[in-house]
Amino acid sequence: MKRDHFYVTTPIYYVNDKPHIGHAYTTILADVLARYYRMLDVPSHFLTGTDEHGQKVWQAAQAAGITAQEQVDRTVIRFQDLWKKLEITHDDFIRTTELRHKKVVQGILQDLYDRGEIYRDEYDGWYCTPCERFFMEKDLVEGCCPECKRPVEKIREANYFFRMGKYQEWLIEYINEHPKFIQPDYRRNETLGFLRKELNDLCISRPKSRMAWGIDLPFDDQYVTYVWFDALVNYISAVGYKSDDAQFAKWWPASYHLIGKDILTTHTVYWPTMLKAMGLPMPQTIFAHGWWLSGESKMSKSLGNVVNPMDMADRCGVDAFRYFLMAEMSLGQDASFTEEAFIRRYNSDLANDLGNLLSRVMKMVGSYCEGKLPLPAPDALNGKDEADLWAEVQKAVAEMEKTLQGMRLDLGLAAVLAAVRATNRYLEIKQPWTLAGQDDKGPLHTTLYCAAEALRVASALLSPVMPGKMQALRSTLGMDETKTDFSRLQHFGLLKPGSEVKTGDPLFPRIRTEDAPAAPGKKEPEKKTMPSTPEGVALISYDDFMKVQLRTAKILNAEPVKDATKLLRLDILVGKERRQIVAGIALHYKPEELIGKTIIVVANLQPAKIRGIESNGMLLAATSGAVMRLITTDGEISSGIPVK
Ligand code: ME8
Ligand code: MG
Repeated sequence: MKRDHFYVTTPIYYVNDKPHIGHAYTTILADVLARYYRMLDVPSHFLTGTDEHGQKVWQAAQAAGITAQEQVDRTVIRFQDLWKKLEITHDDFIRTTELRHKKVVQGILQDLYDRGEIYRDEYDGWYCTPCERFFMEKDLVEGCCPECKRPVEKIREANYFFRMGKYQEWLIEYINEHPKFIQPDYRRNETLGFLRKELNDLCISRPKSRMAWGIDLPFDDQYVTYVWFDALVNYISAVGYKSDDAQFAKWWPASYHLIGKDILTTHTVYWPTMLKAMGLPMPQTIFAHGWWLSGESKMSKSLGNVVNPMDMADRCGVDAFRYFLMAEMSLGQDASFTEEAFIRRYNSDLANDLGNLLSRVMKMVGSYCEGKLPLPAPDALNGKDEADLWAEVQKAVAEMEKTLQGMRLDLGLAAVLAAVRATNRYLEIKQPWTLAGQDDKGPLHTTLYCAAEALRVASALLSPVMPGKMQALRSTLGMDETKTDFSRLQHFGLLKPGSEVKTGDPLFPRIRTEDAPAAPGKKEPEKKTMPSTPEGVALISYDDFMKVQLRTAKILNAEPVKDATKLLRLDILVGKERRQIVAGIALHYKPEELIGKTIIVVANLQPAKIRGIESNGMLLAATSGAVMRLITTDGEISSGIPVK
């Protein structure tokens, strides 16, 4: 993938209230993309900012009993602080109350007015304050705003209009000829659907007598600019339109305007027609993502079910929060934010698969190699297991590049986690804890080195999503480089043998569910614990454990199996179900001793034939040398009861 530049924007957010998870999501997404493109060595520019004019902000100021300027100055800090906390690496932050922006908006308005693209007319219509949009009588749905379904206000006044309607045919054609212009495809169809109705001209002014918080129209000081006409211009005012031609030529057109699906029409109808009237090229892609829902319902300030990103980042760590948002939402679709889903993903992907892999490798390098990365065999990748592992790792590299282009980061991340799991499996196969006992340390060294290499690549691929944690991981691996680029990920053997690895606290301490749900907003110090595991043994997730159905069972009958000295055939009762199992316990128990005992069986094991007899399940027993004892219950309990 080669691009000459990458310019990504987020919506500029209203400063009528504090930021919430939706704002955090779009901004983190833009940040992750920008970080990947920097890794690809593509010159990148990442813009975010705040939308500070308009009725919404003005009303919030009134409600708070402060001036609009005070309102915006206070609230913008909350956004800026949040971006700092969430490790957002924007190159620019634009506020629409800045002079650099206002001058450009006025320049555009004057120019369009001079060229007859803007005219004055008497207006009769309806206004939706939450959406900051005008509607004609015919647009209303049951008397309410067709977008948000809330009540609208009747308005009759003289106003200024942008000749948007005349671009309708052009826009439809443009959208049809540029399939990447509006993404995902179903959003493009939504816009085309909207354009099937007649496109009206756009009212771009507000009389000051009603609401004065906005940019003055340069040709009529009784009016301010409609907030959307002002806001959309940020994407070009911030990169030098009408002020710095070289900078503007460098970044425009934008690669991606990232938006939520709530502001599709303004971005795919108003903005393109405005640009067309200005004679500017269109952005490459307007990408609308879905909603974060709270459980099943939409997360919204008015519903009061908003996840506060500050709290979430405090409680779970910034990187884990970023990872969850990126991995959980398949771009475009809605996704549900629940604490359970968060903990599930955290524990399985981060604590178990990735964090545990790192601690296994580091512990073994510590105890078997004196804490120094061992030297692998020169032909390490000739080994079948090593070649398979490296192929899986390279698949993740390719997948990440591909899904980055296709805006399916969730799939790219899944591929990286698959490579991490493959590395854990590789260790299970190679058993370095056994290899450590051999005289020839070659195989041990190669194994640990290969696992560390897999971690090097995985951590680089995950670093745009979890910058802090992956930096920590890399320093644990003894890597001093901070910058990574994609081209280094295809080469095997870049870790320096002999470099000192560090041991430290687990990267992602497990969240114990019984400790977990502190109610949102109520800050409890996070208790995270890491169960101690024998060195080199992979942890399984709770979900994995729950796949194994253990049940109590009553032994009804037992008899020897012909010609098999070790086996007994048991008839057992599991709840209402009678089953037959074959167990290798004949040397330890006499059949008659067993009848009536309550034992524990794996109830969902695939049936197997043992000496021609079908066995439906497996009993649990502990064996130590010549001693074997069945696992039974401590006192009477019915059969068929789940054991957890
Ligand atoms: O619309 N899930 O600002 P805004 C996902 N100022 N994303 C969400 C979300 C949710 N539940 N809620 C909000 C405005 N967002 C205008 C934009 S741009 C020239 C002007 C995100 O403060 C999503 O990106 O209402 C959405 O588009 C944006 O916040 C709206 O932010
Ligand atoms: Mg909104």
